[in-house]
Amino acid sequence: MAYTYKRRIENIEISFFTDVLKEYGYNIRALDLFKKIGELSKKSGFKAFIVGGFVRDLIIYDIKRQKNRNINNIMNGLYKKDNVLDIDFSIEGDATIIAGIIKNEIKKNVVSIKIHKRFKTAKAVFSLNGRLLTIDLATARIETYTCPGALPKVSFADLRSDISRRDFTINTIALSLDPGEFLSIKDHSCGLNDIYEKKLRILHPLSFIDDPTRIFRAVRFEKRFGFTIEPETKRLLLQAVSDGAISSVSGKRIMTELKLILKEKKPAVYFERLEELGILKAISAELRFDEENKRVFKNISSFFKINKDFYLDIDPAVFYMAGLLFGLPVSNIGRILKRLNIGENIEKRLNLIYSDYNSLLLIKNSKNLQKMKKSEVYSTLKRFDKYSLLFFVLKLFLDNPEDRIIKRLIMIYINKLSKILPLIGGSDLKSLKIAEGPLYGEILNRVKLLKIDGKLKTKKEELFYVKNNFTGSASVTGHI
Ligand code: CTP
Repeated sequence: MAYTYKRRIENIEISFFTDVLKEYGYNIRALDLFKKIGELSKKSGFKAFIVGGFVRDLIIYDIKRQKNRNINNIMNGLYKKDNVLDIDFSIEGDATIIAGIIKNEIKKNVVSIKIHKRFKTAKAVFSLNGRLLTIDLATARIETYTCPGALPKVSFADLRSDISRRDFTINTIALSLDPGEFLSIKDHSCGLNDIYEKKLRILHPLSFIDDPTRIFRAVRFEKRFGFTIEPETKRLLLQAVSDGAISSVSGKRIMTELKLILKEKKPAVYFERLEELGILKAISAELRFDEENKRVFKNISSFFKINKDFYLDIDPAVFYMAGLLFGLPVSNIGRILKRLNIGENIEKRLNLIYSDYNSLLLIKNSKNLQKMKKSEVYSTLKRFDKYSLLFFVLKLFLDNPEDRIIKRLIMIYINKLSKILPLIGGSDLKSLKIAEGPLYGEILNRVKLLKIDGKLKTKKEELFYVKNNFTGSASVTGHI
């Protein structure tokens, strides 16, 4: 359903803008910074605008806020993709001159400024009450494409022309930083209307041909915001897909788009849409997204929603890719990975995940898991990589009682057993006059297994055990 609204917004209220900045952890200095950049641009005879996704998000949430009056909820649920703000600026004039002026005039908060003379762009990083804020400054320009998929030819222009090179109308809205019209909305292609109508619309018929990665972006924005791709845009998207536009995109760029989708909250919904629009098949004929893929994707999303903070070292994208390709014939997997140019490391990891999956399945079916001692669980699972164990868990049908049992044991292994270490070390064994050698590893492993089963607790008990069983005769068959 489209947004119903009483008043069409013409500008972003300063108090709302400051609230949003506060949500990101910035104080009033951030607002002053934007004002200052607007003033410095004006002094140089230029105009500065905030553009891109940040403006789109601000407006979407401002409209929701006006409708719901439940600002905290909206902020928590929809803002803060990352904790650090990265904002795009478009300068009517010369962005590199503004970057130079910022460097001289706002010295105190500037962490770094990088200027790219050739593209007339700059990146400025500020530190505001201890938080970083990045601003990408671009000189307003137009880009023309010589052939599909190729890099564009660039010439400089005003804001109105600048937006014509963008992907969707909702991404063309700008916020002026000019002192006379601070935070007023510049909407040159009816983007605001499309936001109200919840429509995703390209700006010109060749948009998907010029840049086929927009096909993926269309799905991403449609599903993220609950918008619909308007009929003519959808027709042109389907046309571009069936005309083979995706085959001109490198595997690396496709993978970048897929990874962005995999970072969204419920990637299953996005992949269903990619399948429905024939995009997966266009990447590689063997690629598909069926009910089983959907089930595994959902398991992965709910797992990381709850456990994200415990697994910061783990990249969920690996599990989604493993879930997407699981069950396909090996030769098809090889072809898809080659098409996506996925890289040797991740390919190796996926192969390991699949071969370990079969071994873990054997363990699940052959052992009486419920009767295993903790130390046996440890010894059975220690040869597996954490990625393999977690993928196995995420692939399980938790409606099956046996699946629940092995899931519980694997999680106990990952979270507890694999972290248990003896309190004694090599130097303690040395001081007990045990000759250095492979026996050390064996002794420490023994101690670890006894600790896992709760039979050794303190360092004193560990030393006592070693003394009784491994000194003198140095027997390795001792009992506590
Ligand atoms: N853009 C485009 N075509 C692309 C990629 C980007 O026109 N293939 C434009 C869009 O106007 C977009 C802006 O460049 O708003 C910034 O791109 P990016 O940072 O990728 O997009 P965001 O809109 O900020 O997306 P997200 O919210 O996912 O970060």
